[in-house]
Amino acid sequence: MPDNELFIKKYSAMTGGISEAAANNIISILEEIRILKAKHNAVILSHFYMPPELQVDTKNGGVADFVGDSLGLSVEGTKTKADYIVFCGVKFMAETAVILNPEKTVLLPDHQAGCSLAESITGADVLKLKEQNPGVPVIAYINTYAETKAECDVCCTSRNAVKIAKSFESKKLIFIPDKFMGQNLATKFKTETDKELILWNGTCEVHEQFRSNIENMSQANPDAEILLHWEVPQETVKATLNFKKGIVGSTADILNYVEESEAKQFILGSECDLGATLKGMYPDKQFITPCIMCKHMKQISLLKTLQTLRSIGTSEENKYRVLVEKEIRDRAYVPIKKMLELS
Ligand code: 13P
Ligand code: SF4
Repeated sequence: MPDNELFIKKYSAMTGGISEAAANNIISILEEIRILKAKHNAVILSHFYMPPELQVDTKNGGVADFVGDSLGLSVEGTKTKADYIVFCGVKFMAETAVILNPEKTVLLPDHQAGCSLAESITGADVLKLKEQNPGVPVIAYINTYAETKAECDVCCTSRNAVKIAKSFESKKLIFIPDKFMGQNLATKFKTETDKELILWNGTCEVHEQFRSNIENMSQANPDAEILLHWEVPQETVKATLNFKKGIVGSTADILNYVEESEAKQFILGSECDLGATLKGMYPDKQFITPCIMCKHMKQISLLKTLQTLRSIGTSEENKYRVLVEKEIRDRAYVPIKKMLELS
């Protein structure tokens, strides 16, 4: 099947359909992106929270060379032979790609794509935490900026947080910056290890909103199973998972859970477009969600991705380029490398 037909098929499965005019508009952008990627030896790495048109991969006629969670994108970034990585995600993720691939040019289609967690803590805050808790190892969630990572012992993503924490002998660990994720991890550790987590007061402005909306949907759909990201408040986890089947975990855990479950209906407590990802993968299952979008992720669009590719080799290129100072890059590389070795 030609690329454009494949794309429409996958995109329609994810979104429930597309008008002919909208399809023609998207296809003209995709065609130019394909040409520019080949011309500049560029790849597109795209997070699961991107709009659906950026989540269709090249096997399905789209333009994303790889679609994944934050860990998957970090690993994939190290494998590519491309000269340019166009990062369709948020800034801390693009910075991670720079730290792992200093010889490549990493472009972010909009530098406004931040993250409430990354913005909640600085390197100076970590130094204070270390002073208050001497000798306690610091685990930095990947959702932090490079200058924060530079002061930490190891990084983790939602997918490998449990494994990374367990790899430390120390009973006490500092986990920054997501307090809800930390509380959910601490609950899990209570039953499995003697670990005690010292937390920071950061929250994800998207996942912290999954509260009574999820509980009401859960009550209204008695057969549905529950899918919650680690970053959702602990009260929501208790109010739903104490009564129903489901999972609190990483994006990868959520995808694996759906793959293995026989249920036909799920309530999703994570970013709205992960619902589109799931719908595209499992068209015969239903995903009910309050549809809360990450405004930072939504700064990135197909059109801005095209504009980014058009800028390569022009005076505009630097507007998109993500740079991390060498001194910070070298120090932030240590905890990221340690994470990749442990995961
Ligand atoms: P993942 O590590 O699951 O990709 O999550 C990243 C994120 O930003 C969650 O809000
Ligand atoms: Fe950050 Fe939350 Fe957006 Fe993820 S969903 S990028 S944690 S603000």
